[in-house]
Amino acid sequence: MKALILSGGKGTRLRPLTYTGAKQLVPVANKPILWYGIEAIVAAGITDIGIIISPETGEEVKQKTGSGDRFGAEITYILQDKPAGLAHAVKTARPFLGDSPFIMYLGDNLIADDLNNFRDEFKNKQLDALVLLRSVSNPSAFGVAELDDQGNLIRLVEKPQNPPSNLALVGIYFFAQTIHQAIDAIQPSARGELEITDAIDMLITQQKRVQALQLQDWWLDTGKKNDLLEANRIILDTRLESLQTGVIDSRSQVIGRVAIGNNSQIINSTIRGPVVIGENCHIENAFIGPYTSIGNQVHLIDTDLEHSVVLEGARIIGVEQRIVDSVIGQRAKLELAPQRPKALRFMIGDDSQVELV
Ligand code: DAU
Repeated sequence: MKALILSGGKGTRLRPLTYTGAKQLVPVANKPILWYGIEAIVAAGITDIGIIISPETGEEVKQKTGSGDRFGAEITYILQDKPAGLAHAVKTARPFLGDSPFIMYLGDNLIADDLNNFRDEFKNKQLDALVLLRSVSNPSAFGVAELDDQGNLIRLVEKPQNPPSNLALVGIYFFAQTIHQAIDAIQPSARGELEITDAIDMLITQQKRVQALQLQDWWLDTGKKNDLLEANRIILDTRLESLQTGVIDSRSQVIGRVAIGNNSQIINSTIRGPVVIGENCHIENAFIGPYTSIGNQVHLIDTDLEHSVVLEGARIIGVEQRIVDSVIGQRAKLELAPQRPKALRFMIGDDSQVELV
C-alpha cells in the first residue's frame, strides 16, 4: 500500500502566515503539521509516500521534509501545477500510484486515532473506498455524508448549503485503484475544482464497496487561527514530554510539563506548562502560561503570554498586557517603547488581525 499526502493548494485561510510559506509547514507544538501525518502513515506500516507540492511552496516543503530518512520512509515529491482540486491531485499522482491501493491524507489534517484499524478494515473487506467521518457544528464548511438507518453511506456532497447531516468528511481516505476511473468520469464543481467527494459519490452510485467509519476522538483541520491554537493545545496536552536542555537561572520557576531546547536561556521568568520552547531563545522577566509553543530564536522580554503560538525569530518586548490566544508570525516584532510617549506604532502585514482589548 502507498500513501499520498496533499501539501499543495493555496492556503488562503491561514493568511498572513501563509503568504510566506506553506500552510502544512506551520508548526503545531514546534513541529510542522505535515510531519504528524507522515509519522502516522509510517506508524501504520506504509513507507512509500508521495507528497503533492505546489510551484509556490513546494521547494520549502521538500527542503524541510527531505527524502524521508528521518521518518523511516521513502518520499517522492509530485508537482501539481495548479490547485485544481483533490481529485486533480490524485490524477497528477497517477504515475506514482500505479494500480496500488493507497491512503490519501490531507496535509493540514490531524487526528488522535492511529490509522492501523482503518487500514485493516479497508484491506480485510476489500473496499473500493473507506472514508472517515466526524460530527461537526458547521458541516457546510466540509464534505458531508448522508447515511441510511443502518449507517450505510448513501451520498456525499461537498460544502453543501443545506447539509444532509452534521457528519463531515475527515481529510483521510483509503482507496483501491477503482478511484481512478471514477475521477476520470467527474466534471469540475461550481468552484472549479475536481472534487474527490464527487468521485467517491460516483463510486457509491456505481454500487462499489464504499464504507464510512466515524472517528470517536478529536480531529482537527488546521485551516484557521483558532483551529491552529486548538491543535497546539491538544498536542501539548497529549504528547509533550518534559525535556530541558536549555539554561534556567535560579530566579526562574518551571512548573509542569515544559520542554526547552538547546542554548535557550530562561532568566527571572515563570513558565507554567504545558509549554514548548525551541532552541536559542532568550526569555527574560517573562511569564509563559499553559498551551504555548515558542519557536527557535525567539526573544521574549518583559512580557506575559499564554495559550499562544510564537513562530521562529519573533521578538516580543515590554508588552504590558498579557498576550492570549495569539499567533505571532516568523520574525514579527512586538515592542513597547520603554519611555513615554507610549504611542502604538504598527507595521502590520496584509490580512493581519490585531485586537486591542
Ligand atoms: O479537511 C477536510 C475537508 O478537506 C473535507 O471535509 C472536504 O470534503 C475536502 O474537500 C477538503 O476541504 P478543504 O476545503 O479543507 O480543502 P483544501 O482546499 O483546504 O485542501 C486540503 C489540502 O489539500 C490542503 O493541505 C491543500 C491540499 N491541496 C488542495 C487542493 C485544492 C492540494 O494539494 N491540491 C489541491 O488542488
